[in-house]
Amino acid sequence: MGAGLIGIGKCVPSQVVTNADLEKRMDTTDEWIRTRTGIEERRIASDDMDTSDMAFAAAEEAIQNAGLKPEDIGLILVATVTPDRPFPSVATMIQDRLGCVNAAAMDLSAACAGFMYGVVTAKHFVEAGTYKHVLVVGVEKLSKITDWEDRNTAVLFGDGAGAAVISEVSEGRGILSYELGADGRGGNHLYQEQYIVMNGREVFKFAVRQMGESAVSVIEKAGLEKEDVDYLIPHQANIRIMEASRERLGLPVEKMSKSVHKYGNTSAASIPISLYDDLAEGRVKDDDIIVLVGFGGGLTWGALCIKWGK
Ligand code: COA
Repeated sequence: MGAGLIGIGKCVPSQVVTNADLEKRMDTTDEWIRTRTGIEERRIASDDMDTSDMAFAAAEEAIQNAGLKPEDIGLILVATVTPDRPFPSVATMIQDRLGCVNAAAMDLSAACAGFMYGVVTAKHFVEAGTYKHVLVVGVEKLSKITDWEDRNTAVLFGDGAGAAVISEVSEGRGILSYELGADGRGGNHLYQEQYIVMNGREVFKFAVRQMGESAVSVIEKAGLEKEDVDYLIPHQANIRIMEASRERLGLPVEKMSKSVHKYGNTSAASIPISLYDDLAEGRVKDDDIIVLVGFGGGLTWGALCIKWGK
């Protein structure tokens, strides 16, 4: 039997911050941000909306969308680097609010690759028969660790949450292959002191190389060719990095997910948020072969090849 994503959910704050808004706050321009990153606007959570609030909303929708009840969930994994507090975990906070009374719960830290790490962990628990249904949430309130005086980082990030329920799916569907990786030598390129500190050029080079290699690797592991891929969902960090991975797979523009212009880089939330919009707007359909690929601080990376559908 295989494991796959049987329900998904999303939550983004209602407050939109445009590039023009940032022009008023720091020495930057809409033109610079658009051409270097592809970002046009991002969502920023209000003071009374913390990480667990967004995680809760996305998780509740994912459970409903999967046709399950909260008590059906056996494990909750929340990928985040911006928990409400160091402890208790965001996972235990939403376990209570959701009413997932039968679920174990923990957070995991793999930065922007966190959702990939969560889904792969969930897949193994489901396939081992340990848990029937695992809830995975990617969520960040990056605005609270952003230095709003630092134009190098402040223009890039946004807040939001995406969630998925991982369960058994029918033969041939679900997660066909995956790759996870880390290279701690690059930890000094992207980290949190009080705020996010980033060596943009080094992260850019790493991301272009690693996203392409990981995407190709999961296609090969699934026994497929590049031509078999219907759709690519790259981590929504920067349109130029995303384009490089699309070109590596030889896919046309319309076969790549793009939400970075609307939400900026929402770290662990970016891939499930993009997938959510793709499903809602009909770009991903049952039996499509999709490749999800992310990278982040650590440095970490992860990719999945999925045949979509239950
Ligand atoms: N507005 C205007 N100018 C800015 C700016 C901003 N928001 N941010 C940086 N600049 C300036 C820099 O100060 C630099 O000026 P200088 O040449 O006088 O020093 C200039 O723009 C060019 O900087 P550079 O680093 O060459 O730009 P770039 O084309 O590499 O783009 C990033 C910068 C950050 C967009 C790019 O490196 C990137 O996307 N890196 C990956 C970041 C990422 O994905 N992080 C998250 C990982 S999960």
